[in-house]
Amino acid sequence: MTRYVYPEALAILEPHADVDYHDSRDGLDSAALRARVTGVDAIVSQLTDPITPEIMDAAPRLKVIANVAVGFDNVDVGAAMERGVLVTNTPGILTEATADFTWALMLAAARRVPEADRFVRDGRWRQWEIDLLCGQDVHGKTLGIVGPGRIGRAVARRAAGFDMRILCHGRSSLPDDMDAEAVSLDALLASSDIVSLHVPLTPQTHHLIGARELALMKPDALLVNTARGPVVDEGALAEALASGRPGAAALDVFEDEPRVDARLLECPDVVLAPHLASASGATRMRMCTMASESVVDVLNGRQPPHIVNG
Ligand code: GLV
Repeated sequence: MTRYVYPEALAILEPHADVDYHDSRDGLDSAALRARVTGVDAIVSQLTDPITPEIMDAAPRLKVIANVAVGFDNVDVGAAMERGVLVTNTPGILTEATADFTWALMLAAARRVPEADRFVRDGRWRQWEIDLLCGQDVHGKTLGIVGPGRIGRAVARRAAGFDMRILCHGRSSLPDDMDAEAVSLDALLASSDIVSLHVPLTPQTHHLIGARELALMKPDALLVNTARGPVVDEGALAEALASGRPGAAALDVFEDEPRVDARLLECPDVVLAPHLASASGATRMRMCTMASESVVDVLNGRQPPHIVNG
């Protein structure tokens, strides 16, 4: 186990394995991790641990990498495939929490909640004013879902209560009982008031949203990213916001976490969070226990339910 996990996850593994637990919030650097994995059958990794071919080669007995996340861009899945190592993730259980947080960001950015909070705390509230901290409506607007997979669909489902028109773009389509139009990415960007990203990070989605795409967005539009930072060209976004198109952004993920572009830190039209979308206590604990369960399955010759390279 590469770093601190909820204790319940350790308790699941202990009856089945000798656990080498790096019980720290700070990960191991590549050399330290290589030294630590030499005899292991399984690695429980987190999204902050790059699991490279070198790490795999340092662990000749390795059978499974159980990543405590739905995303697995930190694991070289191709290299795992070549070495016959299974990679598992934790999908499903974090869908609703992630969708909830996407909405929290959307509403916070559109209605300027963090700015309002700072305003009150700073003692700047003098009186009620007719145009004080006015934001954008969310209800009745057009929501564009880029990547209508499990999480994208959960975000779209919540939009029903806000009377929104829904556009979507991606490999999957939204279910027939959901009133949504499948459109090209360009059409989605040009027509949506809120664009929410829910694609995995792959070579195809790296910088999917760059300067050209941002320039297609409406001037008042809001870009929400709870997927992976590198899906958006962060430098291009900082420039686009400075030039007023799109009007705002709500970002939970960044290109080089935990570093955030200084221009975004200074921009009042950006709401920032430190990669929290799945972070309800119950969800994060379940992610940890699910990863342990996957390892127990493999150690006992069973097929774990969520193999990403099988
Ligand atoms: C979190 O970002 C995850 O991929 O689970």
